[in-house]
Amino acid sequence: MPEDWPEYRGEALRLGILASGKGSNFTAIVQAISAQKLPAVITGVVYNNPGAAVSQRAQAAGVKTQLINHRDYPDREAFDAAIVHTLRQWGTEWVIMAGWMRQATAVLLEPFGTRILNIHPSLLPAFPGLQAVERALQAGVKITGCTVHRVVLAVDSGPIVAQAAVPVLPADTVATLHARIQVQEHRLYPQAILWAAVGNC
Ligand code: GAR
Repeated sequence: MPEDWPEYRGEALRLGILASGKGSNFTAIVQAISAQKLPAVITGVVYNNPGAAVSQRAQAAGVKTQLINHRDYPDREAFDAAIVHTLRQWGTEWVIMAGWMRQATAVLLEPFGTRILNIHPSLLPAFPGLQAVERALQAGVKITGCTVHRVVLAVDSGPIVAQAAVPVLPADTVATLHARIQVQEHRLYPQAILWAAVGNC
């Protein structure tokens, strides 16, 4: 699929990443910045699972990290308040959920307004929520993919910024299908961040 980068003449976008696991989307964003395709800086990575591989990826890339473990907070609001505090200390302008497996509350959404993006491994509104790849496979769909959307309170329901389609092949397993979806995620997410920033979607 061809690359499609919009023209952008503003200041570098200040991206704070929220990630729960592996961090391959984080790496794709780092690479797009290094390649001078995405005019951005990463203010830091917040991760919620001790031992999440994204923390090693961030350290290797010279990006600040902060573990904020949801298990240490009495409720989702207190957890989100800690995240907002850290993101603000870093001067974050855009919140980029990259494999973030926690549901956001108004405490996180209100300070950033429309400047919160998420990537989800299905063609929303199909298969929102957990195990989207597995459920698409079980449903027997022939095309699935990934979606970048703005984040609202209802899970995986915000305005869609960009999507990429991925065919489901007869021999696919969850692992093979997810791997092909991730190829598209890594291409799409950095571009979609810029599309969202220029405000044309
Ligand atoms: C990605 O496939 C992303 O779409 C999915 O988690 C994976 C994270 O991969 N996100 C969700 O399911 C959110 N509901 P990564 O850690 O390698 O970037």
